[in-house]
Amino acid sequence: MIKSPAEVELMAESGRLLASVFTWLDGQPLAGRTTMEINDLVEAFIVGDLTARPASKGQYGYGFVLNCSRNEVVCHGVPSTEDVLQDGDIVNFDITLEKNGFIADSSKTYLIGEVSPAARRLVQTTYEAMWKGIRAVRPGARLGGIGHAIERHAKRAGYSVVQDYCGHGIGRDMHEKPEVLHFGRPGTGLPLREGMVFTIEPMLNQGRRTVRTEDDGWTVVTTDGKLSAQFEHTVAVTADGVRVLTLRPEGKAART
Ligand code: CO
Ligand code: CO
Repeated sequence: MIKSPAEVELMAESGRLLASVFTWLDGQPLAGRTTMEINDLVEAFIVGDLTARPASKGQYGYGFVLNCSRNEVVCHGVPSTEDVLQDGDIVNFDITLEKNGFIADSSKTYLIGEVSPAARRLVQTTYEAMWKGIRAVRPGARLGGIGHAIERHAKRAGYSVVQDYCGHGIGRDMHEKPEVLHFGRPGTGLPLREGMVFTIEPMLNQGRRTVRTEDDGWTVVTTDGKLSAQFEHTVAVTADGVRVLTLRPEGKAART
């Protein structure tokens, strides 16, 4: 579960490349495109421009390089040639990438065109909640403190936190120990140690926290049909705090 300094540096390189995928995606027009087109563009960028491997493709029998989770989809949405991104949508793109044997995992919820104030507030609060969790990471802190920080921020804004999915250790495998819950009590759970690398990826729902999986076996939606948003970063515990390995330009102000 503990990575050596050399391994953390390799993971930071994977993370930097993955951040560049999102920076590139930020500049792409999304409205009017199908989620399959976005999938194919991202695949071409990862394979062609970055000479990296899209780690999600082939994992657990999954056929695509990203998950796209739109509006009431909580996570694990599957790209489709029928699913056209429309003005007013919120959509999370969750992407993984492997370089030199190490995987990075990150996601971001995009606002398509003019989005309702309510949807915008959910997305903004989810972003803040992820950062509350990240700022709780330091050696000696406990996993429960991360979850607590996220849940408190979500609840204060009137949202619920999905409990069915969690962050995870990551390295040569996409999903390693420990499980990183997005709810919890401070002072409980595994103590954090320098060299641990894991994801923090809260899903916040506008309404109830309950979810169900659709018949395709992948797509997870809110049971009440209300909106859900998510952000994810891969982070490493350092000697005195946290390093966000998938940090994007827009996150630089949020670090402190
Ligand atoms: Co992910
Ligand atoms: Co993840």
